[in-house]
Amino acid sequence: MSSTAQAALLSNHPSATEVHSQVTTPASVQIKPRNRSHDIAQALQGDWLDNNAFLTAVFNGMSITFPAGEKFFIDSVRHFGDDITDPALKEHIRGFCGQEGFHRREHQRYNEALCTARGYDLEKLEGKLTKRLAWAQKNLSPLQNLAITVAIEHFTAVLAELLLRSDSVMNKADPSMRELWRWHAAEEMEHKSVAFDVYRAVGGSEALRVSVMKRATFFIGLELMRALLYILRKEGQLFNIKLWRSGITGLFGKQGAFSGGLAPYKEFYAEGFHPWQQDTQHLLVDWAAEAA
Ligand SMILES: [Fe+2]
Ligand SMILES: [Fe+2]
Repeated sequence: MSSTAQAALLSNHPSATEVHSQVTTPASVQIKPRNRSHDIAQALQGDWLDNNAFLTAVFNGMSITFPAGEKFFIDSVRHFGDDITDPALKEHIRGFCGQEGFHRREHQRYNEALCTARGYDLEKLEGKLTKRLAWAQKNLSPLQNLAITVAIEHFTAVLAELLLRSDSVMNKADPSMRELWRWHAAEEMEHKSVAFDVYRAVGGSEALRVSVMKRATFFIGLELMRALLYILRKEGQLFNIKLWRSGITGLFGKQGAFSGGLAPYKEFYAEGFHPWQQDTQHLLVDWAAEAA
């Protein structure tokens, strides 16, 4: 082989000492914390989503779980910060923590304004989840807690996709609420593989990832149902069958808020799954164009 051909061949094959990046986020996606505040107190006084008390209760209930959840995600990723040597992944961890920190602050404000406006007891609403997450931090290993974060981050990535698509239920929301939920969704999408990349970098297994997702799905369902039932009871709508029917159709029916979410959720269970196998960059481009 000529020396030129040898050089050409070697240039396509990194040497054994070359360090590969552990980052799998596409290069064009920036994980950029945006310090935004949202003026939503007025909207929270009413049924801000499609003028529907059930749909509004479902999304308000989700918001209730975010501050405690996002603190847990930050803690579980940050725990492994010193074990990561790749500077690009370290930078992504900073972006991830910055974004989740702002989300946590905004949803805390959201939840406080909501509870003041509607007479809900915030401590009662989020108390069980806070205790459950504290139990996990005390009794499970850091890797198990990171696996929980990876699983729930997949939920938020799927939800983000649903909220950013052009026919999203957010088109039926009060404009200030739409802006907040889509800002959160866009940043969730930007950082959707950070916890996953850290999990892989520190040797997390496929078996643990999948088994934790099964349990996480159960507990997410439980927490969301708890919040929904509390809110509907406080609103005097718990036994309003007509409202339940319209709400369930609004969630899972044709053009429902969550319709189209099951297939991407299930992809998580396949061996070799990766968050960016679902290439959603076009939704970020659309969001940025609209927000500009
Ligand atoms: Fe978030
Ligand atoms: Fe997140």
